[in-house]
Amino acid sequence: MKIFLAGGAGYIGTHTAVELLNNGYEVVIVDDYANSCPEAVARVEELTGKKVALYEADVQDEQAMERIMRAEKPDTVIHFAGLKAVGESVQQPLRYYRNNINTTLSLLEAMEAVGVDKFIFSSSATVYGAQNPSPYKEDMPKGLCTNPYGWTKSMMEQILADAVVAYPRLGVVLLRYFNPIGAHESGRIGEDPQGIPNNLMPYVSQVAIGQRQELTIFGNDYDTPDGTCLRDYIHVVDLAEGHLKAVEFSENHQGIDVFNLGTGKPYSVLDIVNTFQEVNQVPVKYTIGPRRAGDLPICYADASKAKAVLGWEAKKTLADMCRDSWNWQKHNPKGYRK
Ligand code: UFG
Repeated sequence: MKIFLAGGAGYIGTHTAVELLNNGYEVVIVDDYANSCPEAVARVEELTGKKVALYEADVQDEQAMERIMRAEKPDTVIHFAGLKAVGESVQQPLRYYRNNINTTLSLLEAMEAVGVDKFIFSSSATVYGAQNPSPYKEDMPKGLCTNPYGWTKSMMEQILADAVVAYPRLGVVLLRYFNPIGAHESGRIGEDPQGIPNNLMPYVSQVAIGQRQELTIFGNDYDTPDGTCLRDYIHVVDLAEGHLKAVEFSENHQGIDVFNLGTGKPYSVLDIVNTFQEVNQVPVKYTIGPRRAGDLPICYADASKAKAVLGWEAKKTLADMCRDSWNWQKHNPKGYRK
């Protein structure tokens, strides 16, 4: 079977490509390298000893997607492409709506034209919004998002739900990610943010290696055990295995199904900092700052549906996540730029 990874050169795409290739799937990666680079794909090939069919193209370009799908005849499309910086989405909402929604539409149109009918979508826990209490369950009504990025995910889920009604052959799996961190244990692929990281773990790693002076913890006065926010951090290799299970599931699937990909175990910002320091024996200087606008105090998954239906559950511990993040950072201080 052949899997088409739109945005497959990025952080989650490369880890998923490794799992797919190691399990006998053929992989096509389409990426415009807006937030990734060909070197990441070269390392996927190096790790697996397998070739990837690699295309440089903008996923918004419907004709290009159609051309590549006609040439490659994939069985399933996984859609990882998209802009994902929450703060930036508040500053540039139109760019976010244009880019994220266009990519989804162009993939669906190309699939319809070529006759590809399995679609797996990178969604986010953000679609549960602020109203639902954690742990989030897939059958909760979606909530009100706090930023344009979140709304694009919510809207793309709606577009996909409408598409399966109109195209009965279509099978869609929505995967709602929680907080992916960590890296492949080889240290050859990992997260490579451009500029100042928005997310906690890359920031912690860059402080540990001396590229940033100190971490600011955004608030320690939340109603949580240590006052810092709780999140459901998931190792990116566990997340990649979740995609593998979703691909197997989608082979005989029609309609639309949604799965949380999280561990179900919440950890605080201080848990991350303390575990990182302990496991890696490296100091992480931090200070307590004000709350960040839009942050929820608590966000974690009920992960039981993915276990029951996909036969998947996260296996790696917080210590594994911290160790592998540091291993990647230490061996690639400038990311993929040598
Ligand atoms: N944090 C800090 N300091 C930092 C960065 C983050 O204290 O420098 C804290 C945040 O306040 C939060 C936690 O670390 O409590 C995690 O923050 P991230 O930015 O790493 O992740 P978020 O939970 O805010 O966002 C993630 C994804 C989004 C997604 C959102 C909701 O990055 O794509 O979860 O599911 F929308």
